[in-house]
Amino acid sequence: MKIRHLIVGMTVALCSVAALAQQPIVIKFSHVVAVDTPKGLAAEFFAKKANELTKGKVKVEVYPNSQLYKDKEELEALQLGAVQMLAPSLAKFGPLGVKEFEVFDLPYIFDDYNELHRVTQGAVGKQIMDKLEPKGIKGLAYWDNGFKSFSANTPIKTPADVKGKKLRIQSSKVLEEQIRSLGGLPQVMAFSEVYQALQTGVVDGTENPISNLYTQKMHEVQKHLTLTEHGYLGYAVIVNKKFWEGLPGDVRGQLEQAMGEATKYANSIAREQNDKDLEAVKKSGKTTVYSPTKEERMAFKKALVPVHQKMESRIGKEVIQSVYKETGFDPGKL
Ligand code: LMR
Repeated sequence: MKIRHLIVGMTVALCSVAALAQQPIVIKFSHVVAVDTPKGLAAEFFAKKANELTKGKVKVEVYPNSQLYKDKEELEALQLGAVQMLAPSLAKFGPLGVKEFEVFDLPYIFDDYNELHRVTQGAVGKQIMDKLEPKGIKGLAYWDNGFKSFSANTPIKTPADVKGKKLRIQSSKVLEEQIRSLGGLPQVMAFSEVYQALQTGVVDGTENPISNLYTQKMHEVQKHLTLTEHGYLGYAVIVNKKFWEGLPGDVRGQLEQAMGEATKYANSIAREQNDKDLEAVKKSGKTTVYSPTKEERMAFKKALVPVHQKMESRIGKEVIQSVYKETGFDPGKL
């Protein structure tokens, strides 16, 4: 009788060990934007590819819209291992102490996606990404979003129109200086709080790529949008380094492949997603969309490019110069 019990017990134990061995590895991927955005769609794409390529050994759970964590908390959660993967905007690494990332926040440092890709898909981008490692973070890829435009309840057509306005920014010293250079009052705030702050008048306006503006319905609480496209907003897809390095080699390789494919996908849809959302904003009739003339755009550029030099000691002259070298930008030639 006792022996029979022992055998039954051992069988049950073996079965649960086998069941445990078949449990998928779960990757919690948290982000702050809507699903229907370049980042949201790319995260879903990655989850599907990761499941396919690992044959179900990995399950990626995507939590959009600040459902799990807001901007600042998500980075802490990643470092603590409460989530394994994030794609914060590049502006959000400055507060972590990796100031080199703030080079991406410099106004007008990239004229278009081609110039941007020379950096994000080249050696300079990799050098910046590698700076995350001492923080226990491994950077896997850069994902595009797009170029930011100013919105407010009164028109912004000239740099002087920003004077005295309270504008929500991400937590970046470069963005703070950018708004101050125009005489505005920068207000750092988590992304999830922006809609309400605009609605209640806590801030007068903000800056964002159109995909973020539209999917958060900010255009419904902003009367004017000016297509200044004065700065870039994109992402670094990052993982908890310990978790990543602890994965079985074959699984990590498959996930790298899934990330490669998701990155191609992300960077192929970002522009069209922003264009599509701009059309939707125009069609909504809720906000007046203004395209600055060449001269008006140049006036913003002249007012904002001096921010590069002001931020040199913070970001590092070499980092800024290495970006200029890739893109051919020369601040002296405006
Ligand atoms: C913001 O806070 O405005 C953006 O970083 C949100 C995002 O992730 O695109």
